[in-house]
Amino acid sequence: MKIGRRGFLGAGALLAALGGAAIYLAKPFQARQLSAAEKQACGLTVQAVEGPYHVSGMPELKDGNLNSTKLPGVPIEISGHVYDGLDATKPLAGAAVEIWHADSDGSYHPNGNGPASNYKPEEIALRGLVLTDAEGRYRFDTIYPGEYSGRTRHIHFKVRAAGKPELTTQLIVPAKPGDTLTFDDDDIAEGLPNCQLLTLDETSSPAKATFDFRL
Ligand SMILES: [Fe+2]
Repeated sequence: MKIGRRGFLGAGALLAALGGAAIYLAKPFQARQLSAAEKQACGLTVQAVEGPYHVSGMPELKDGNLNSTKLPGVPIEISGHVYDGLDATKPLAGAAVEIWHADSDGSYHPNGNGPASNYKPEEIALRGLVLTDAEGRYRFDTIYPGEYSGRTRHIHFKVRAAGKPELTTQLIVPAKPGDTLTFDDDDIAEGLPNCQLLTLDETSSPAKATFDFRL
């Protein structure tokens, strides 16, 4: 089970009090604290921690369907562009947008990492990549991700474009009533500008959200 930052610090204090000796405790990931202005400005897309559930070597999706194994959940469509720089004048064609996220119950498939070849095909779900078109556009269909211990609902991304450093980041989806955490109290979301909290247009079916990656 993942221990949240607050729980980890509490455990660390207890160990120090009990032992009194020099004990090395590995620090968990802590998001950089953004200023209020940085929270408001989208800018170039910021990096976020990859997390423990990345499976490498996933292929391109068929028809942009991330949920090809038909896991249950509320369907959503996410689309946008990959741009070179801050404005929208330089689309990056042929960029790979890799996506992975938890299922509706907060479990990854697999609940692990490493190369895809380490797993049976039926163990893998909600993972894959799409390529941008000539206008830098990408889109994919998936289901609403679930929250899990210490994390609000989120989607992981890696974006790879020729001549650019690889971007690893996360987009946050709105919390549901009764959730444990929201964008505002998730440790990793603290390091993201507000624009990385997706806004879902629920007037259409499936609900849609857009996000432009700026490298
Ligand atoms: Fe995650």
